[in-house]
Amino acid sequence: MASNLEMIGRDEVDDLESILAVTNTEVDEIAHSVASHGDAIFTWDYERSRAALGKLYERAKKSQWNAQTDLPWDTDVDQEHVVLANALANNMTFGPELDTAGTPFASWGDKEWLEFGVQSQNWTLSQFLHGEQGALICTAKVVETVPWIDAKYYAATQVMDEARHVEVFAKYLDEKLSGHYPINSHLRLLLDDIINDSRWDMTYLGMQIMVEGLALAAFGFIQQMTTEPLLKQLLRYVMADEARHVAFGVLSLQEYYQELNASEIRERQEFAFEAAVRMRDRFLQQEVWDHFGVDVKEAVKIVMQAPERKTFQALLFSKIVPNCKKLGLLDAGDGWLRERFTDLGVIQFEDWVDTGEEYASLDEVAKDRLANDKAAATA
Ligand SMILES: [Fe+2]
Ligand SMILES: [Fe+2]
Repeated sequence: MASNLEMIGRDEVDDLESILAVTNTEVDEIAHSVASHGDAIFTWDYERSRAALGKLYERAKKSQWNAQTDLPWDTDVDQEHVVLANALANNMTFGPELDTAGTPFASWGDKEWLEFGVQSQNWTLSQFLHGEQGALICTAKVVETVPWIDAKYYAATQVMDEARHVEVFAKYLDEKLSGHYPINSHLRLLLDDIINDSRWDMTYLGMQIMVEGLALAAFGFIQQMTTEPLLKQLLRYVMADEARHVAFGVLSLQEYYQELNASEIRERQEFAFEAAVRMRDRFLQQEVWDHFGVDVKEAVKIVMQAPERKTFQALLFSKIVPNCKKLGLLDAGDGWLRERFTDLGVIQFEDWVDTGEEYASLDEVAKDRLANDKAAATA
């Protein structure tokens, strides 16, 4: 059985020194190569035997949208205004309200906190962009490696979805925000591990269940919270796609895990735990604090303790935990993963709805089309 050191590179999960020691040393790198293992599998069995995946595939075909023409790109975005309006609309602690006496933030005034809000947006959207590219690459890999024809069909639609997601986040960053950040090293380590693994189902677990499960929750939180109409609409559409992607993971692994023995399931539990920790670590926003020259440990003590930040950190796992439960990963092997998720403070989400159940209700594109058709019919 793997130790913490083997799974996450340190003995103590909350060891801040070790977390922060992982930094991106190649910030100017343009191409990053990762050895991608796993066999490309042809199947000569073209039988459509997996009805649930077939249904998902049909829905995906109908819910395609165009990043260039389906979003209101003419919306004017004033980043500083958005930071202030969001704080006001959501009753959020805005920097100057924190008790910063004796900390590096003591000299910060409204101007600095506003700039922090702006950089925070740039950082968040940049990480979404990089994560989307990870999804693009992982899903292309799933097309090759998954042995089932229904899954290859569906995964092919997801490749198109992910290209569109990379496209929208890149366009939003370029046209509406004020700077890009390189990929966070914790996120990059996780993506590298997922791509590197030769077992086809590990791509699904790492990407569809963990990374996309977290993305779905994060997009949902920001979609609710933002007052910026273009981003709100953009996230609504991206989330509709992401819900299908997570459902694809749940439906596929549910079947495959039936065939695995106890030690194979334990390896999947360990991989889920590794992914959960890496994703939690990335939200420390190391790169933003470096931008301001503030010691990250000090920032973690002050800013990261704000109540809404803690709620956000926990909510990120609100899709992952019920989906892991549905897959049987939570309680297999004496509940090893249940204990880990309890330590991470996220077990409270175990009975929330799983994405295999809820994805159709998140299909905003289909809802918009229906509303447009109705409007046209009555006009
Ligand atoms: Fe995506
Ligand atoms: Fe996705």
